Amino acid sequence: MRVLVTGGAGYIGSHTVLALAAAGHEVVVVDDFSNAKPAAITRLEELAGRSVPVHAFDLTDAARTDELFATEQLDAVIHFAAFKAVGESVRKPAAYYRNNLDSTLSLVEAMQRHDVSRFVFSSSATVYGEQAPVPYSEDYGFLSSSSPYGQTKVMNERILSDVAAVTEGWKVALLRYFNPVGAHPSGRIGEDPQGVPNNLMPFLAQVAVGRREKLTIFGGDYPTADGTCERDYIHVDDLAEGHVAALEHLDAMSEPVRAFNLGTGTGTSVLQLLHAFERAVGHDLPYEIGPRRPGDLPAYWADPSRAHAELGWRATRTIDDMCADTWRWQSQNPQGYPED
Ligand code: UFG
Repeated sequence: MRVLVTGGAGYIGSHTVLALAAAGHEVVVVDDFSNAKPAAITRLEELAGRSVPVHAFDLTDAARTDELFATEQLDAVIHFAAFKAVGESVRKPAAYYRNNLDSTLSLVEAMQRHDVSRFVFSSSATVYGEQAPVPYSEDYGFLSSSSPYGQTKVMNERILSDVAAVTEGWKVALLRYFNPVGAHPSGRIGEDPQGVPNNLMPFLAQVAVGRREKLTIFGGDYPTADGTCERDYIHVDDLAEGHVAALEHLDAMSEPVRAFNLGTGTGTSVLQLLHAFERAVGHDLPYEIGPRRPGDLPAYWADPSRAHAELGWRATRTIDDMCADTWRWQSQNPQGYPED
């Protein structure tokens, strides 16, 4: 297929571009580079051994989006491009709703006009809200989220479901990610957050490389085995392969819309991840236990059985693989991607 990957220069997008190329698909990228560097594309092209066409614009521009579909022959869309910082979304809700909803609406309308009907959406475990029983199952129906970021995922799922229900031939896979970490084993592409990392793994990696003094663990008194929060960390290459599996499954879907959890099914605590990262680096890392971070849930992980049964996909990479690959990327690129 010829696949439009939005946000293809970003962390998960770039790994998915590579997985698509490895599976024999052609890729067209759209990215506005508001939170990604052009160097990611250069390196992708090196790794894929072919050039990747890139359109640099903001998808909230509906006219530009339509023009793209008028000029490129496309069979499917994988939509990653979005703002994604939970804390920032609480401070700037309007910006998050504007960006994360308008971009999807531009895409949907352009797809309807140009008869493109396959859509894979980058959703999140955050749509299960705060009350869902663990492990999270796709059958749980009361989607909600406490942050505006998470709420944009819930609303996007709703928009796509409503559109697919009434648009002939539409097939949509809603992929609910747990905690993506790791990097391509080449060490050439990886996660490159701007400013202070919000997420645990990139923060740990920056401590290990000397860019941060120490890790602060947000809370050591949770009702978990070691008192720190548990999450379902998934290697970004497993996640990328999940997108290829979902894309290739769309035509066989009996319903227009289907949600799939992409996780491993196992929880790992903050302390366990820290110690795994120390093994990858080869020495201890400085840390302290600080106060809880508002909004964090004690523990959740995926029930990934639907993705296995229906997509034939399951995560295979271990926590040690995730740490070793993150460390290779961070140690080879201590400051992330070069500017150009
Ligand atoms: N943590 C620390 N110190 C840090 C950073 C994180 O102790 O410096 C802890 C957090 O408290 C949490 C765990 O590490 O217990 C994981 O935190 P992340 O920020 O890496 O990930 P979250 O589980 O909070 O966030 C993820 C996704 C979001 C999504 C959210 C809710 O990154 O996109 O889950 O589902 F919205």
